[in-house]
Amino acid sequence: HGDFNQKIDYVFKVVLIGDSAVGKSQLLARFARNEFSVDSKATIGVEFQTKTLAIDHKTVKAQIWDTAGQERYRAVTSAYYRGAVGAMLVYDMTKRQSFDHMARWLEELRGHADKNIVIMLIGNKCDLGSLRAVPTEDAQEFAERENLCFMETSALEATNVESAFMTVLTEIY
Ligand code: GTP
Ligand code: MG
Repeated sequence: HGDFNQKIDYVFKVVLIGDSAVGKSQLLARFARNEFSVDSKATIGVEFQTKTLAIDHKTVKAQIWDTAGQERYRAVTSAYYRGAVGAMLVYDMTKRQSFDHMARWLEELRGHADKNIVIMLIGNKCDLGSLRAVPTEDAQEFAERENLCFMETSALEATNVESAFMTVLTEIY
């Protein structure tokens, strides 16, 4: 009995991209398992986790893909983006360079993904406010220009993580 044979109405593939160490894997750990690790290892290749949730009385299985920010650990790009209906473009708000690289990540994404993909720009590590290197307005301006949703998050403090994923998933739906 129970939801043993739960019917899945939709499966949505969402990809995480951005420089190494911005917190992609920890955002995923927070969203999928409500976990966080301070000594998170760099991702090698591709990993994914799923979370089943309800949107508008439908059962949606979110399949979140996570890959290495480091070039040498990345797997085949086209396979990673294939079938993705959502993307989280993540930078570390304490590392200006990770934000400056967003244009390049966006270019790669747009070159490989479906043109209707829903994209969310994420400024992670907002718990480190005193070390901020990217003003909110800069990110907002970039997001508006490129037609992206935007949120600042903290995987550590669980700030806006659920909200960011839910916004993307609801927008896809
Ligand atoms: P790659 O797999 O190499 O691409 O890196 P990644 O983007 O997956 O980074 P990861 O999630 O492994 O996190 C890198 C480091 O940042 C780890 O030490 C995390 O604990 C830390 N970290 C991640 N999110 C946050 C956050 O919201 N706040 C703080 N203070 N640290 C964070
Ligand atoms: Mg990782």
